[in-house]
Order: sequence, then C-alpha cells, then structure tokens
Amino acid sequence: MTDNIVKLLTLLSCEKRLILVFEGFGGISLKDYKNSQTWQWSITDIQALSEGINSTLLILGHRLKADSTRPAIQIIKDYGDLSLVDYYPGALNQVFMNLVANAIDAMEEGNIGKTYQEIELNPNTITIRTYVGNDMVVVRIKDNGLGMNQETRASLFNAFFTTKPSGKGTGLGLSISYKIITEQHGGKLDVITAPLTGAEFVIQIPLQ
Ligand SMILES: Nc1ncnc2c1ncn2[C@@H]1O[C@H](COP(=O)(O)OP(=O)(O)OP(=O)(O)O)[C@@H](O)[C@H]1O
Ligand SMILES: [Mg+2]
Repeated sequence: MTDNIVKLLTLLSCEKRLILVFEGFGGISLKDYKNSQTWQWSITDIQALSEGINSTLLILGHRLKADSTRPAIQIIKDYGDLSLVDYYPGALNQVFMNLVANAIDAMEEGNIGKTYQEIELNPNTITIRTYVGNDMVVVRIKDNGLGMNQETRASLFNAFFTTKPSGKGTGLGLSISYKIITEQHGGKLDVITAPLTGAEFVIQIPLQ
C-alpha cells in the first residue's frame, strides 16, 4: 500500500509533474493562483520547511539510490534554527522538487564518461542548507554536477529554456520556480555556478 502511494507520488512527481503543477494552480495563471483557495497561506517555521525538503527527497529517493554506474548520491543536510515565515508549502515543495531533480540530472550528466571508481572518489553530492540571515529565510541547494556556462546561466529562468534532450526536459521547472519564489513569496532565486564546478541555487524568502 505505502509502496503504491510512493510509486504514485513518484509518477506524479516526474512524468506528470507539470500537470500536477497546473492542476495545483487550478488551471489559472500564477497571479490568480496567489489569491486562489487551492493552497492556503500558512504561518509556519523552518522545521516545517525542512520537512517539506525531506519529503521531496523521499519522493526522489529512487533517483538517489546506487545503480550499476554509480554509488548512491550523498545528501548532506544542514537545517538551521526555527524562525517564523509565511509561505505556501505546496508551492515551495514544488520548487524543492525542481531544484533537486535538476541537481540529480546535472550530476548524471557530469558522470558521463567517468568510471564507477572515479565517481566513488568524488561522490555525487547534494548539500542542502537552511538558515536565517538578514531577515530572510535562506535555503541553499548545491550539487557537484556539470555546472553551466554563461550562456545557460543567462537563460535558465526563461520559460521553455532547456539543454536536455527533447522528451526529457520541458524547460519549465525553473521558470515556474522563479515565479513561485519572486511573485508569490516576494523573495529571490539566484544561482552560483561555473562550468564543471556544479551549481548552487539560493532561495531567499523575507521573514514576515
Ligand atoms: N543544477 C543544475 N546544474 C546545471 N545546469 C542546470 C541545473 N539546473 C538547471 N540547469 C540548466 O537549466 C536548464 C533549465 O532548467 P529547468 O528546470 O527550467 O528545465 P529542465 O530541467 O531542462 O526541464 P524541466 O521542465 O523538466 O524541469 C536545464 O536544462 C539545465 O541546462
Ligand atoms: Mg528541471
């Protein structure tokens, strides 16, 4: 039973991810979505935010496991102190999902041409940090994947921009995430990256 629920969530979170997003929006624009009853604005704390990240990792668990080409992806968590923040949990979880899925894709791409032993020496690692700084709740999601060049860096928040083969990426994950963070939460979404050095996405949401 639980297995089936996880499978269903996995299916929804991957293949049907965008449909789920749009169903979540109730088939309306993001602006209306802000005022819709579909998701409730809730006052909660970093603890709940961290739980949202953990459930995202659980849903993506099948992609983190070891396989014949590489050891399991390591997850380093550094969750900070409690602090009150206003946010839409469902929407933020969608952002975590997009960022972690992108990190896994970038590490898999970076693994191409490497042996199992080479990857084992410098394991694929996602580091997630949450903390409060400058009246902002900050969530940093870092990978040691392929990283990106300036050209990709300049376009990655644009709708339909993707470097993935057709059928794999739609190029909507980051543009939706960007809107959720900036328009819906009044926050910022930035990236620190360079070719071959991995990427770190930085979410900042103002405290109430
Ligand atoms: N962690 C990352 N490391 C390297 N490149 C990245 C990373 N995250 C995103 N990118 C680049 O940004 C592009 C856009 O990402 P985005 O999530 O919007 O779309 P996508 O992953 O290609 O498709 P999908 O809509 O399925 O998410 C990616 O195709 C990739 O080139
Ligand atoms: Mg994506």
